[in-house]
Amino acid sequence: MSLEIIILAAGKGTRMHSTTPKVLHPLGGKALLAHVLDTAVALQPTAIHVIYGHGGEALPLAFSGLHYAPDVNWVEQAEQLGTGHALSLALPAVDPAAEVLVLYGDVPLAGPETLAPLVETSQRGELGVLTAEVDNPTGYGRVVVDDCGNIRAIIEHKDATSAEQAITEINTGFMAAPAACFVRWLQQLTQNNAQGEYYLTDVAALASAEGLTVAATRAENAGDVLGVNSRGDLAILERRYQQLQAEELMRAGVTLQDPKRFDLRGVLTAGRDCTIDINVIIEGEVILGDRVQVGPNSVLKNCRVGEDSTIEANCLIDEAVIAAKCQVGPFARLRPGTCLEEGSRVGNFVETKKTTLGQGSKANHLAYLGDAQVGRNVNIGAGVITCNYDGANKHLTVIGDNAFIGSDSQLVAPVVVGTDATIGAGSTISKDAPEGKLTFSRGRQTTVKGWKRPKKKR
Ligand code: UD1
Ligand code: CA
Repeated sequence: MSLEIIILAAGKGTRMHSTTPKVLHPLGGKALLAHVLDTAVALQPTAIHVIYGHGGEALPLAFSGLHYAPDVNWVEQAEQLGTGHALSLALPAVDPAAEVLVLYGDVPLAGPETLAPLVETSQRGELGVLTAEVDNPTGYGRVVVDDCGNIRAIIEHKDATSAEQAITEINTGFMAAPAACFVRWLQQLTQNNAQGEYYLTDVAALASAEGLTVAATRAENAGDVLGVNSRGDLAILERRYQQLQAEELMRAGVTLQDPKRFDLRGVLTAGRDCTIDINVIIEGEVILGDRVQVGPNSVLKNCRVGEDSTIEANCLIDEAVIAAKCQVGPFARLRPGTCLEEGSRVGNFVETKKTTLGQGSKANHLAYLGDAQVGRNVNIGAGVITCNYDGANKHLTVIGDNAFIGSDSQLVAPVVVGTDATIGAGSTISKDAPEGKLTFSRGRQTTVKGWKRPKKKR
């Protein structure tokens, strides 16, 4: 039996007050729709269809670089006439013998395990609806059941009587049935309702009238099936998503000083006994080796940190590779192309970009290292700057092993400082400095004899 998944994502998202289509708003750093697509892929369907409309091509365009298996069939709904109308646009492309699972692009947290029972219901030739018991059902479709607990109808909030509004079991919007059934039911939909739309939810009453079982699968946790209609909803789901991720990391053996103050917007792979202090943000793909410690308020994005390395408080690390036993920060900024080799150290107010710092080398305070190849056991003094940019092009600075760069020196690239070379403090080095020698370029110190400090006139 084949399964086809149809994701409804054409709606405007009026209450978001945004020029970005609602399903492109990020949750945990990833578009709402991307979460739903990932869930769809996990169910191994033969086809995935996405109904888009509001925001036009922005939606398919946003996903053009991403690959899903199977490929997404994008179906445009130019005018949003309702969820029933949206589904009907996808059905011509669906195999009539397939099971159809309908998902909403704005309900990101319902995982494959929550949806599998719906597909099983459809395989029995029935209509399966995912429902949830909620404290405040305002705005949702209410599930009206018979004595056996089967659904007789779904009544939209705006169409509900006050007795129906008191029902706290709601329609999540997710449902599954054989494709041929949906084709038959959708032909019978009308716009005779409070919103003048073709409600997909009316299929429940149609199926029930045919004598077909409409089975309610109740979501174990209502929090998993909440939709995003406003930025407030988005914030609530973000917290829930972060909480779920934090719990998973802790189960895997990561210490989070406070799981409520931890944000993962991507994928974190951590070795044994890593500790992450509060207010750390992890973005993209981050890999931590064993026993890595990350101090508070640091942002780590697309980077690797080797075992026994420490990231102190308030660091920004972006596309950097940090080897084992390194120490970074506090207040360090490692920009793309930074490579810290084993045991090297980058301290406070040091910025690096496209720079390799060799084994055991140190830049402990107030430095800028851009486009630099620094050898082993080099000491970069406070205030050292690589002048890598001449206003038009970037140039390389090469520093040999065991060199000592005195404080407040400028290395005007392209320039080479030889192995074992020493640069005197306060130098502007614009020519190569030979190995093993002391090179400096500062004016000589003089003391003026007989000089008197001026005094204030009376
Ligand atoms: C819908 C359900 C309601 C359910 C709620 C759960 C209907 C009639 N109502 O209401 O029973 O409790 O979801 O969140 O189905 N969409 C389209 N094209 C359209 C209209 C909507 O693609 O013409 C998409 C939206 O982008 C969204 C989904 O369908 O992803 C739901 O639409 P929305 O307008 O949010 O429906 P609700 O009023 O929330
Ligand atoms: Ca909705």
